[in-house]
Amino acid sequence: MSVDWGLGRYERTAAQLLPAARAVIERAAPAPGEQVVDVGCGTGNAALLAAERGARVTGVDPAARLLEVAAGRAAAQGLDATFSRGDAASLPVADGTAGLTVSVFGAIFAPDPTAAAAEMARVTAPGGRIALSAWLPDGAVARAVRAAREAAGAAGGPPPFPWHEQEALSALFAPHGFDVTVEHAKIGFTAGSARELVEQELANHPIAVATRPALERRGEAEALPGRMVAIYEAANEDPDAFRVTSRYVIALARRRG
Ligand SMILES: C[S@@+](CC[C@H](N)C(=O)[O-])C[C@H]1O[C@@H](n2cnc3c(N)ncnc32)[C@H](O)[C@@H]1O
Repeated sequence: MSVDWGLGRYERTAAQLLPAARAVIERAAPAPGEQVVDVGCGTGNAALLAAERGARVTGVDPAARLLEVAAGRAAAQGLDATFSRGDAASLPVADGTAGLTVSVFGAIFAPDPTAAAAEMARVTAPGGRIALSAWLPDGAVARAVRAAREAAGAAGGPPPFPWHEQEALSALFAPHGFDVTVEHAKIGFTAGSARELVEQELANHPIAVATRPALERRGEAEALPGRMVAIYEAANEDPDAFRVTSRYVIALARRRG
């Protein structure tokens, strides 16, 4: 199922993911004047951070509403960034023009990882690099997401592509002349309580909004929140409120020669 991430209010999640965009941009270190393409840019977290460093940025995303939000943020901050509709496997960008192609939890949603990798490689300049982030499939958030997918009947089928594994990424990018390195990172999610986090996620997250009719059809809409709260409460790291940590990788693929 292809989800329109303009549904609900992705802005909430984007604010929580901002530290990851910061970490990816710090690692990739775009230079002033460098051309940067942000794949699956959403509301523009990474794109704007690159533009703040003086890079010339194009953000690409399939979600028209999020592109409008991103363009509004760039205009409000007076930053040099443009935003275009597109898909990781079909980027509206000329061959070999990006010194840096970045994707913060964006390309990982492409239905065909091989096609997405080929396309990101196509737009990346000789000597350029691709920086992307991907979740590790462990931790409370991953377990809660799996519970939600199962309840909506969206689980099953082949396992998702392991974007977090160095070997899998090398298999994607080495044929295009890239060497891949991977480093591990962590991000915390906080809320007043586990229940508050679940209520906010189910009300606002685009995937939760898109799958709500399936949950209702399957008679799972009432039971799912309790199951998710139990998963989060068992993993709570903050006795006075709520905090869980998710692990992810930052992968850097450098084009040889
Ligand atoms: C978790 S959000 C990340 C957004 C942004 N990079 C950030 O850090 O906030 C996933 C984004 O990937 C986009 N997306 C989904 N499928 C995609 C695809 N096939 N190609 C490119 N982007 C895609 C969604 O529209 C959404 O904006």
